[in-house]
Amino acid sequence: MKIEHIIAVTALVLLTSLQTKAQKTLAEATKGKFLFGVAVNPQQVNGVNPVETELIAKEFSAIVPENCMKPQPIHPEENRYNWDDADKFVAFGEKNKQAVTGHCLMWHSQIGRWFFVDAEGKDVSPEVLKERMHQHISTVVGRYKGRIKGWDVVNEAFEDNGTYRNSKFYQILGKDFIKYAFQFAHEADPDAELYYNDYNVETPAKCDAIVELVKELKAAGCRIDAVGSQAHMHMNSPTLEAAEASFKKLKDAGVHILITEWDISILPSPYDGANIAANFKYSKEMDPYREAIPDSIQQKWNKRMLDMFGLFLKYDDVVDRVTVWGLSDNTTWLNNFPIRGRKDYPVLFDRNNQRKPVVDEMIKMAKKYKK
Ligand code: G3I
Repeated sequence: MKIEHIIAVTALVLLTSLQTKAQKTLAEATKGKFLFGVAVNPQQVNGVNPVETELIAKEFSAIVPENCMKPQPIHPEENRYNWDDADKFVAFGEKNKQAVTGHCLMWHSQIGRWFFVDAEGKDVSPEVLKERMHQHISTVVGRYKGRIKGWDVVNEAFEDNGTYRNSKFYQILGKDFIKYAFQFAHEADPDAELYYNDYNVETPAKCDAIVELVKELKAAGCRIDAVGSQAHMHMNSPTLEAAEASFKKLKDAGVHILITEWDISILPSPYDGANIAANFKYSKEMDPYREAIPDSIQQKWNKRMLDMFGLFLKYDDVVDRVTVWGLSDNTTWLNNFPIRGRKDYPVLFDRNNQRKPVVDEMIKMAKKYKK
């Protein structure tokens, strides 16, 4: 690396740290209210881009792995685990004195096909699947025992109409797969908090199904501390009213709430939700802000961020964490979902890793927020 380049990067890191030191952070402003987190990728943990690594360490009080602890990446084959990225991720959080969340133990997506089939490729029996779940959860949770604040134990088990997603888990074990997962996770680390996580939790039918699940798990003597609302939002949905209604239902069900994957896409949506299987054709109409965002749209996005943030503050007695799904507009999954190759602006730091003006507004709001 040329000397000029080293000087430039060092100067940039120093400048960023001086700036960051002076400014209050969202982590500090929300202290005593809720944790403020971010989803991180291995490149950020490994310091590939020092500015991003520095920002993540300074601005946030909690981290979650965007991909490296999911079933497929961490357990690609029955007798092979892939610990490197996950080990470094947990150590990174500990070094920065941040709350570390595990995401996620059981999910119908990003899980190896081997998990559900025998040597002939046929579906395994309920007993075999239950044992494989037990193996996976006790091995992964056991490895980080006492170091993970809480786990997304099961992710996205319901459709928006409140019916159970027809996943391989459900086909082979029925709805009890969820109970088994929570039992195995608690057995492996009795001190870890346990969460059920989903998107579109603001949808009444899905929220009612989740509330029913919470009641069933509690009745079965299972530990469940909170429901994670992913909060992948659009400019017009969900409404503030729908989000608040879901908060009231979950609070009444006796669980706390986590905002686990918050982002607000500024782009037109071919549909609502985060069903990872969806994919749509690229067109210029669906990618209108490649050059810049009209100020009126930017103001609308800022207001929507502040309205939702205000709601999280209003429920800070039950909202324990607010996590944004990606550090910057550079690293967001929304540049390639549900349409590949678009330019979205859904999170708090811009493509130059600079704070967006809405961050200082959120800090002011949090600081002066009195119940
Ligand atoms: O790691 C491989 C790499 O080896 C390969 O070269 C590259 C080529 O495509 O793919 C890389 O894997 C990608 C992985 O992200 C890591 O970058 C997968 O293709 C890609 O599908 C995966 O996308 C992740 C997505 O979950 C997959 O389901 C997104 O980054 C991640 O933001 C997203 O997160 C989910 C939450 O876990 C659950 N809720 C919805 C949310 C958004 O879908």
